[in-house]
Amino acid sequence: MKKIALLTSGGDAPGMNAAVRAVARSAIYNGCKVYGVNRGYRGLIDGDLFEMELSSVGDIIHRGGTILKSARCLEFIEEEGRKKALNVLRVFGIDGLVVIGGDGSFKGAQKLSEMGFPAIGVPGTIDNDLAYTDYTIGFDTALNTVIDAISKIRDTSYSHERLSIIEVMGRHCGDIALYAGLAGGAEIIIIPESDYNEDDICKKLIQSKNRGKAHSIIMLAEGVGGSRDLAQRIKDKTGIESRATILGHIQRGGSPSAFDRIIASQMGAKAVELLINGKSSRVVGIKNNSIIDMDIHEALAMERKLDKDIYKLVDILSI
Ligand code: ADP
Ligand code: F6P
Repeated sequence: MKKIALLTSGGDAPGMNAAVRAVARSAIYNGCKVYGVNRGYRGLIDGDLFEMELSSVGDIIHRGGTILKSARCLEFIEEEGRKKALNVLRVFGIDGLVVIGGDGSFKGAQKLSEMGFPAIGVPGTIDNDLAYTDYTIGFDTALNTVIDAISKIRDTSYSHERLSIIEVMGRHCGDIALYAGLAGGAEIIIIPESDYNEDDICKKLIQSKNRGKAHSIIMLAEGVGGSRDLAQRIKDKTGIESRATILGHIQRGGSPSAFDRIIASQMGAKAVELLINGKSSRVVGIKNNSIIDMDIHEALAMERKLDKDIYKLVDILSI
């Protein structure tokens, strides 16, 4: 393993830069040359690569976003696009690729591996939607951003004695809504993994109000959507004044938390170690506080399960 390339792909996540730094520095430490690819798979197809020095990743550990930029590249999903990318990798003499991204980006890495090119995945997404790892890089920071927002909304919700519905990111995975809901003291969690009954929600809100609870918070995941309409329907059914806030891309930015910087550093270094040891087609993760690696096919085949205990705990603690 002489030349390693790395890219960031899919939705950006705080901590991606810390992972980029870890890959670049540990590869150089181990005597490899490192190439940064701009704009994910788009840059790979376009040949937008540059050699990175130790200084290329200086002063980025604390920065959100990704210095390599990120993109969604439909051309790479087609075999023709991937052949172009493989050609670029060969022309530059690259021996292995580190892909920092979410499940879509991992599918791309998996396809490259199947075409014979060594690729390793590092989980970078705020969604925390990869079943094989306890945490993805960016989730912790996004969670803290959401909790900060909940606290602010809580102030005004209290003053006006309103219900606040807070819609957060997560199309298929409700982890941001669930864990921010637990940490933010929400009354109700609405996520794609679990059915809900609107009348039961209204009943809980009315009972809470009758017991003297002046305001409530509902966390709702983007995958369920419709927070503004839900606020109106709840108001119509219960008479409780309701407001919806969609947090949006604020959740994707900001300086990464200590936790995200730490796991990004560990995972980036692990990805390089795997390539140097001749491994391919693997993903890096964290399980029970240890950095792990796993076959990429196996990891992508794992079904993500809702933590029902946490879901129930939110309900119990918000009676
Ligand atoms: P994320 O990695 O955050 O899940 P996406 O799902 O948008 O984000 O995927 C990022 C990129 O990964 C896509 O734009 C595409 O280039 C590549 N990709 C996604 N799915 C596949 C696939 N099935 N085969 C090859 N490449 C894919
Ligand atoms: O995958 C990360 C994520 O932020 C999802 O939570 C969200 O559904 C999606 O990306 C938004 O993507 P875009 O940046 O293209 O609007």
